[in-house]
Amino acid sequence: MKNPWLSISYDDYEGHMNDPAVKQLDVLREITRNILGSFQPEKFAIIGCSAGNGLEYIDNNVTKEVHAIDINPDYLEVTRKRYGGKIDGLKLHELDITQDNIDIKDINLVLAALILEYVDIYLIIPKLSKIIASNGYLIIVIQKNSGIEAITPTQFKSLKKLESLSQEIDEKELISVLEINNLKLEHRKRKVLNENKSFVILTLNKTG
Ligand SMILES: C[S@@+](CC[C@H](N)C(=O)[O-])C[C@H]1O[C@@H](n2cnc3c(N)ncnc32)[C@H](O)[C@@H]1O
Repeated sequence: MKNPWLSISYDDYEGHMNDPAVKQLDVLREITRNILGSFQPEKFAIIGCSAGNGLEYIDNNVTKEVHAIDINPDYLEVTRKRYGGKIDGLKLHELDITQDNIDIKDINLVLAALILEYVDIYLIIPKLSKIIASNGYLIIVIQKNSGIEAITPTQFKSLKKLESLSQEIDEKELISVLEINNLKLEHRKRKVLNENKSFVILTLNKTG
């Protein structure tokens, strides 16, 4: 079966994420800005990059390699148009992370924001751990929904296609899978979005 993300245009995706009922694009951009500022990675990878939200904060003097990974080639093309001329070390990877190898290594900082909801964590976490440098970091953002649907209804009806794929992450289970894969929880932060939704931001350190 074709992955539903392949049939959602980037206009619809960004329109949905910017909709007043959702308003998540700016929050995710801010998270990216903060982690880039704090960790100053030489090698950075963003898993499920969409159209490159947050990459405007890459500093070419600090970050020499930027790997932007997504399943949707149209999103990657928008990322290339937006940032190809601005980020010296930008490399785009069209991959289905559930099926393909992620052929990069020694990454100092990996960001996986709102992607684990669409994949099997038992399959993906070992792959992410493998690409991270020893003592490097993984930042995970997951969404918590209290008693309402994960995909907020907006005028962008194509997003409804994600309902069959999307799953709420069990945080305890996730942390145990991370630990098994040498990713030690260093920090947890909850960012409230509205009365029904929040983001949980986990900072993991790769040990060994
Ligand atoms: C909710 S968005 C992530 C939010 C994004 N980081 C931002 O700041 O706007 C999920 C992204 O993951 C991508 N994605 C979903 N499943 C994937 C897979 N199996 N392999 C690679 N990318 C995937 C989607 O195409 C989409 O761009």
